[in-house]
Amino acid sequence: MIALGSDHGGFELKQEIMAYLKEKNIPFKDYGTYSTESCDYADYAELACNAIVAGECEKGILICGTGIGISMAANKIKGIRAAACSEHFSAKYTRLHNDANVLCLGGRVIGPGTACELVDLFLNTEFEGGRHALRVNKITALENK
Ligand code: RB5
Repeated sequence: MIALGSDHGGFELKQEIMAYLKEKNIPFKDYGTYSTESCDYADYAELACNAIVAGECEKGILICGTGIGISMAANKIKGIRAAACSEHFSAKYTRLHNDANVLCLGGRVIGPGTACELVDLFLNTEFEGGRHALRVNKITALENK
């Protein structure tokens, strides 16, 4: 199950991503926002990321205007490793090396074609582990300092 969330700046792109996930039969839950009315991205980062931390969803896709604000908010939540990506290399390597569990996209940065390819890479690339696991463990350790 994939947790989705956006603010108004990411709403339209989230609609495109939901249509894409439906077409691929990938289950998702949309934690809002549900319109283009102005709202605060941190609220939707929190709702979607709480579902991931609780184990109700495996990964998340969060979208705001740039992908940056919503990633900053998501990364404040223990257990979340969110990466704002706008190109393929980062979307792939944040899974391989960082074991990112949330992909953040900018609705005002990339179009739906690129976004869906980044979603594919993010969902279908496995974490490499090994030396990268030691590094990710150090990220986790920072949560308790
Ligand atoms: C909202 O106007 C915009 O600031 C937000 O979507 C996002 O881009 C923030 O990082």
